[in-house]
Amino acid sequence: MVDSKCLMSERSYNKNCNVRVSSGILGLDEMLGGGFPAGHIIVVVGDAGTGKTTLALQYVIEGLTEGESAIYISIEEEKESIISTADSYGWNIEKYIKNKKFALLKLDLSDIKTTARRVKNELPELIRLFGAKRLVIDSITLFSMMFNDPIERRIRLTGLNKVIKKAGITSLYTAEIDPDNPIHSKDGIIEFSADGMLFMQQSESARDIELIMRIVKMRRIQHDRLYRPYDITEKGIVVHSGDMLYHNIGKDFEFGKE
Ligand SMILES: Nc1ncnc2c1ncn2[C@@H]1O[C@H](COP(=O)(O)OP(=O)(O)O)[C@@H](O)[C@H]1O
Ligand SMILES: [Mg+2]
Repeated sequence: MVDSKCLMSERSYNKNCNVRVSSGILGLDEMLGGGFPAGHIIVVVGDAGTGKTTLALQYVIEGLTEGESAIYISIEEEKESIISTADSYGWNIEKYIKNKKFALLKLDLSDIKTTARRVKNELPELIRLFGAKRLVIDSITLFSMMFNDPIERRIRLTGLNKVIKKAGITSLYTAEIDPDNPIHSKDGIIEFSADGMLFMQQSESARDIELIMRIVKMRRIQHDRLYRPYDITEKGIVVHSGDMLYHNIGKDFEFGKE
């Protein structure tokens, strides 16, 4: 899909910014004006149970069903658990693993050095071998938490982003929220180095608990900035992009209050 605004204003800055990669979720694509910009690193930040893994799986399934190859690095859940989660939504990822279109890897955090080396050295080769167009790291928080020293953590994350940027693969990282500062990730770094940030939240009102999402940042494109409600259905995430949650025209906007 071609975004003419992006093409006219940013041509010299990012030749790929007019190329979009579908998120696999219609409403989210609408919020993005067509999908994620190709080559972007997008971090999906949210609390446990907000559907980050589901969204990540939906993103790779979209590519796989279109004949693309994809790589999914799981740091939190075992491979079997990821396969079962996908199955529960009716997505047969095992078929793509067998066809060598999908690489599902579980990284072991007990050996930091080997893990860091594998990511740095083997990932570019894996991307090349698979001809992968989509990458998921679930979760980047656990990857970064391997490094206790904040400076080393920053260096490792920057190094990882560099490797991924060089490969040109459109990537989605999941990240846990910082409980003291819920619109930020736990490590507080990744959203600054990523090209995009999607925030997912369970919002509690007196009447209900609602799932809501917002695009906080998406470099080089115009996008929706409002909180939009979504559901996790038996077919995955459905975003109600047309439903405005809060109207703040002409008055101070305080999130959570109507
Ligand atoms: N097959 C399914 N159908 C409908 N909802 C599901 C299904 N599987 C999981 N869920 C919902 O999604 C939630 C977990 O989503 P998940 O993607 O694992 O979240 P996160 O990765 O953010 O922790 C569950 O708590 C449940 O509410
Ligand atoms: Mg998860």
